[in-house]
Amino acid sequence: MRSEQLVRPRVPDGAADATAVAHPNIALIKYWGKSDERLFLPRTDSLSMTLDIFPTTTRVRLADEAEHDTLTFNGRPATGEAARRIVAFLDLVRERAGLGRRAVVDTENTVPTGAGLASSASGFAALAVAAAAAYGLDLDAAALSRLARRGSGSASRSVFGGFAVWHAGTTTGTATQADLSSYAEPVEAGGLDPALVIAVVNAGPKEVSSREAMRRTVDTSPLYEPWALSSKADLADMRAALSRGDLPAVGEIAERNALGMHATMLAARPAVRYISPASLTVLDSVLRLRQDGVPAYVTMDAGPNVKVLCRRADAERVAETVRGAAPGGAVHIAKPGPGARLLSEDG
Ligand code: PMV
Repeated sequence: MRSEQLVRPRVPDGAADATAVAHPNIALIKYWGKSDERLFLPRTDSLSMTLDIFPTTTRVRLADEAEHDTLTFNGRPATGEAARRIVAFLDLVRERAGLGRRAVVDTENTVPTGAGLASSASGFAALAVAAAAAYGLDLDAAALSRLARRGSGSASRSVFGGFAVWHAGTTTGTATQADLSSYAEPVEAGGLDPALVIAVVNAGPKEVSSREAMRRTVDTSPLYEPWALSSKADLADMRAALSRGDLPAVGEIAERNALGMHATMLAARPAVRYISPASLTVLDSVLRLRQDGVPAYVTMDAGPNVKVLCRRADAERVAETVRGAAPGGAVHIAKPGPGARLLSEDG
């Protein structure tokens, strides 16, 4: 979503109230590893596709005299680490707005949380857009992307629809310069008509958070630096493949980048292993499809679920194949989706 498309809400006097919706994204060139944990600065650039399924809708209302934020998640009080991260994010927005008022935040999330399906990306993109509006911050799309990044790195990309590249930025200079340098922006994908078939082999929460897994990989994996270096070349190749609408090339680059990322984790000490036997069964079924002449390629995130990039026209066949490979697991078909946006009062 570009800045000019962002709709400012009608904010009644004394009761700032804004609702935003955002969708998850799946990286084709992965973000794995931070150079600054406080600012959520990544070690490498990444590139993703925003999906048209699993939206998160977040409403932020400023409370009149409350001492604490009130947070609900799918109708229940938010607790623990999730609540702590939302309050820390709101503190950042309050500091920028010069406004101390606490907020009531209601989040409706349709993504299976914590299963490597990037619920934090849609969550913090929606929160960034709604909170910025509720607190009266007038931010353009790049500034919203930077803000969303502070909640969860991958959220910086969900501010945009379609394909987006997230710049790692610079770590030299001041913290402000570093912060300003790292944001996402849209990427054109000429003539590509892709789908992502998502095979949920396990919808439960992951055992190791992506934050901890990244830290361990960067600190201990001998494969991390080589992967980070090759990821630079992958990104350049990916941009070229996207601009010529070459789906087999896009898929091959995405697959090697993702499997390389998982290799860095397997070499960490101790190893982080998100790939499960069920994931490998799905991977094998995709390889067989390819041998049968269907261009289909896998990518995986911080969890065992497998996403298969293919032509939109092949999506049903791919879905059928992975359903057969992972019986009992849900299979979803996603297409490129919209960027984060405010909802007007009439919805
Ligand atoms: O932003 P986080 O902490 O959800 O990290 C996401 C990391 C991956 O999903 C594995 C890769 C990516 O680029 O989205």
